[in-house]
Amino acid sequence: MRTVFTLPDLRSARLPFSGMVGLVPTMGYLHDGHLSLIRRAREECEHVVVSIFVNPTQFGPSEDLSKYPRDLDRDLKLIEPLGTDLVWIPTAESMYPQEYQTWVEVEAVTDPLEGAMRPGHFKGVTTVVAKLFNAVQPHKAYFGQKDAQQVAVIRQMTRDLNFPIEIVVCPIVREPDGLAMSSRNVYLNPEQRKAATVLFRALSTAKDVYDKGERDAGMLRQIMTEVLASEALVQVQYVSCADYDTLEELDTIKEKALLSMAVFLGKTRLIDNFVLE
Ligand code: PAJ
Repeated sequence: MRTVFTLPDLRSARLPFSGMVGLVPTMGYLHDGHLSLIRRAREECEHVVVSIFVNPTQFGPSEDLSKYPRDLDRDLKLIEPLGTDLVWIPTAESMYPQEYQTWVEVEAVTDPLEGAMRPGHFKGVTTVVAKLFNAVQPHKAYFGQKDAQQVAVIRQMTRDLNFPIEIVVCPIVREPDGLAMSSRNVYLNPEQRKAATVLFRALSTAKDVYDKGERDAGMLRQIMTEVLASEALVQVQYVSCADYDTLEELDTIKEKALLSMAVFLGKTRLIDNFVLE
């Protein structure tokens, strides 16, 4: 496994690769969710490139970039046994030098949900992912369903900008009690950690009702809201039942849909979702 920091080193390490190249973009502090993406890339591609970059432009002014958890040594130890060819760890100064002035913005699909709660977030995500795509030139790029809107936005950008890249979406990896794995879970105290299972319970309850035939999206939103309200430590930010691709809120579920939610547990913000097929 080779670790590179600069763009010229990345380019020369990428040059001899022949056959399918898979890219797994991450912000580090890796857990089993990230590792599942790397394993999938390893199965499907001749060469696997993992990027680790805590992208400053996707953090809002009230979101503490400096407090984002980091542990590069641990990350490299976790990646090594998975058969990764190349790890790229760019610096913020090389990605966004002083004179930097180009941005990638996707329109409608970034408006609701995370986009509404975190203004500017997706502009940072799409810009950095476009830069990673251009630098690595992968055939396939791997993203987690955990960040459902990020997936929708990146698929849209990939189509709109003609990136010749297949976007592979991997299922959410969960803790045994259902909590979706996230780098942010480390911020939860034991009481909050226990309460955090309510997201999975709310989604499961709504899914059960859907499986029994309910197609009224408002009803599913209400059920999720009621289950979340049963947990006093949780403050709900949004609860949604939307079209899977456009993320517009639905009245009635006719095609693939997304149940999603964002809540605060103390200062920690958690998101989760289920896809209804
Ligand atoms: P990060 O939060 O580090 O996540 C990297 C990838 O891991 C994303 O595609 C995310 O959806 C996936 N992931 C996170 N938790 C997961 C889980 N429990 N199960 C499955 N996949 C999971 O997402 C980002 O970084 C950034 O926005 C990035 C795309 C790297 C751009 O900066």
